[in-house]
Amino acid sequence: MPKKRVLIAPSILSADIGRLQEEVKSIESSADWLQIDVMDGRFVPNTAFPLSLVRTIKTSLPLDIHLMVEDPDSFVREFLELRPKNITFHAEASKDTNSRRALLQAIRAGGATAGIALNPETPLSDIEDILGAVDLLLIMSVHPGFGGQAFIPSVLSKVEEARRRFPALMIQMDGGIDDRTAPLCIRAGADNLVAGSFIFRSQDRAKAIASLRGS
Ligand code: DX5
Repeated sequence: MPKKRVLIAPSILSADIGRLQEEVKSIESSADWLQIDVMDGRFVPNTAFPLSLVRTIKTSLPLDIHLMVEDPDSFVREFLELRPKNITFHAEASKDTNSRRALLQAIRAGGATAGIALNPETPLSDIEDILGAVDLLLIMSVHPGFGGQAFIPSVLSKVEEARRRFPALMIQMDGGIDDRTAPLCIRAGADNLVAGSFIFRSQDRAKAIASLRGS
C-alpha cells in the first residue's frame, strides 16, 4: 500500500497576531491546510479568532475550523460563510447522538467536511455510534485552550485503536506536535497533524513543516 501523504495544518493560535497576514504567507507554500482555533472563553478558558478576525485573513490554503466552543451549532452557521474545507466540533460540547449527527449533516450541507474532536480524557467509545458518519476524527494530544503545551503520549493508544477500526478515516492530532512527537503520531496512525508553536517559533517554516511530514 503506498504511504499516505501526511497533511500538515499549521495552527495560527501561536502566530504573531500583529502580523497575521505575513505569518500566514510564510507557511502558504508548504502547508496543506490552515487551522483556525475558535475559542469562546467558556468551553475553554481562552478566547480566540472570532469570525470578524478570520474574515480578514487572505489565503489560498483550505481553512480547517476547530471549534472549541459550548454552542457549536451557532458557530457552524457563522463559519460556513467562509466556505472552509473542514469544520470540527468537540464531542464534549454536543451531548447526544442526534445533535451530533444533525451538526455533522449541517456542516456537510454547507460544503465542508465534518470533523469531531475528542479531548485527551474522552474515550473513543464516547462517539461509537457516529464514528462511521464523520469525515475527520481529531484526537487532542493536549487539553485544548492554549498553544505551547506538552504532548500527552497516552492518547497514542486511542489513535492506534481508531486507525485499527477505521482504516480509511482521516485522523488528525493536535497539541504539542513537533519533530520529536510527529513520528509517534504518524506511527500510531495519524495522517493529519496540527502544529502551532513548533512551526511559528521556527525561522525556517518550510523546513519545520517538512520535518513534521518526515520528509
Ligand atoms: C490548543 C489548540 C492547538 C494549539 C496547538 O487548544 O487547539 O491547535 O494551537 O499548539 P501547539 O502546536 O503549540 O501545541
